[in-house]
Amino acid sequence: MRSFIIDTDTASDDAVALIMALRAPDVEVKAITTVAGNVPLEQCTINALYTSELCGSDVPVYPGADRPLIRIMEYGDWFHGRDGLGEMNYPPPKRAAQSEHAVDALIRVIRENPGIVLVTLGPLTNVAMAVSKAPDIVKNVSRCVLMGGAANTIGNVTPAAEFNIWVDPEAARIVFHSGLPIEMVGWELCRFDANLSLDEIAMVRGFETDLAEFAMDCNRRALEANLNQSGDPGLGLPDPVTMAIALDPTICTRKSTHHVDIETNSDLTRVPMVRPFS
Ligand code: BDR
Ligand code: CA
Repeated sequence: MRSFIIDTDTASDDAVALIMALRAPDVEVKAITTVAGNVPLEQCTINALYTSELCGSDVPVYPGADRPLIRIMEYGDWFHGRDGLGEMNYPPPKRAAQSEHAVDALIRVIRENPGIVLVTLGPLTNVAMAVSKAPDIVKNVSRCVLMGGAANTIGNVTPAAEFNIWVDPEAARIVFHSGLPIEMVGWELCRFDANLSLDEIAMVRGFETDLAEFAMDCNRRALEANLNQSGDPGLGLPDPVTMAIALDPTICTRKSTHHVDIETNSDLTRVPMVRPFS
């Protein structure tokens, strides 16, 4: 059994990624830690709890940072819906979140599980705080599979920036400098053919399971938003692309090693977020 810990700003595509990990027969998700990003922290935590409940999992969920290290918080709710889950009016989760802070949970769980796989699906605030407070945890992480960044492509928030990095670039910089064995799954891998086509969405709905229905319903706002924002038809699922690589590294047929740094000073990378519709 492989051990995973997942840090997430749980909204619609994060939820699908959580389902993939929680239902993988050879993976034990030791903890989910939540961070503000797509929606406010409290809503991310509710969404993670609700998704894990649908999966029949009692994985502990630890709320963490409710804002970036130094920047003003900017949410992505215009993309995922106000609740992050397509405004489907899902009921509240039955389970409650843990009282331990996500940063302490990351440190503890990674120390307790040498070789653990860390998957990050949101802004890197929690992870930056954890590696700053306890740099020793870096050596215990066998892979840090990270959704974020835009390599040789146009970002999804500004021409230069992808959302998870854009929300908290200072945290991203700390994490990319931390020595973690990062496998960056950038926005460039999550467009075009990576999108779920309308036929594929129909195929998933055809499974006629509660999880399949939830996975598509909670992404209904994201489906519209993706088309409006990038002109890409179909449903973009960046976090599930990342989780797929975390679960099965062999699907990544080409990779290369690079020094990566994060621009934190230039206004050119931070032109205000364009919201193409309201
Ligand atoms: C990333 O930002 C969020 O909207 C998604 O959940 C994903 O983690 C894509 O840029
Ligand atoms: Ca996410």
